[in-house]
Amino acid sequence: MTISQTVNGALRPIPAWPLYFILLIPGALLFWTVLQNPGPNPVEALEHGLGEYALKALILGLLITPIRDLLKINLIKYRRAIGLMAFFYVFAHLTVYLFLDQQLDWSAIIKDITKRPYIIVGVLSFLILLPLAVTSNNLSIRKLGPLVWRRLHWGVYAAVILGALHFVLLKKTWQVEPLTYLAIFVVLVGYRGWKAIR
Ligand code: HEM
Repeated sequence: MTISQTVNGALRPIPAWPLYFILLIPGALLFWTVLQNPGPNPVEALEHGLGEYALKALILGLLITPIRDLLKINLIKYRRAIGLMAFFYVFAHLTVYLFLDQQLDWSAIIKDITKRPYIIVGVLSFLILLPLAVTSNNLSIRKLGPLVWRRLHWGVYAAVILGALHFVLLKKTWQVEPLTYLAIFVVLVGYRGWKAIR
């Protein structure tokens, strides 16, 4: 028996639902840490932390296929939970921006969106991710049909590049961390593109 067969066998009885709780832990710890030690700008700390967890969860979700192809380890049943939790972090990030950062001041929000290109890019990424999250259920797959559903979900590749670009653009200078996220997504999306062309 190969190592991948052993791992797949060990994973078979492990359901996906605990992942929703497990992936909630970093967000809960972030809230707890910010509450305990608010620092000079607690809202910014939350906004940034949640944005980064969104990117990390999106990376996890996009790693599932290469792991299956290259290591023959099948984690497909965990992909929906990871994808939905990535969206949860994007949504929480947006909620902190709207409610805590901008305090629902719509004129300030509109000014921010039109003034700062990185916000437009973030909004675009969010708008692509929204229908993907809404259709991440068996009923939608049945209603749309697997082909249309799969095509719709290709949107995730555009969304992750835009999400990372949002991070790159908000820094006034070239910085290693956002560029690393962008590079990881370019490799992961490039891999899928290369596979599709082959
Ligand atoms: C409606 C959409 C979005 C809005 C309005 C928004 C807004 C913001 C704002 C205001 C900041 C802080 C900028 C600053 O420090 O001045 C930020 C940072 C960030 N956002 Fe977004 N964002 C959106 C979507 C997204 C999405 C879709 C992702 C990821 C997939 C994301 C990931 C991040 C990251 C990683 C940071 C920086 C964290 C850091 O500096 O450590 N955002 N966003």
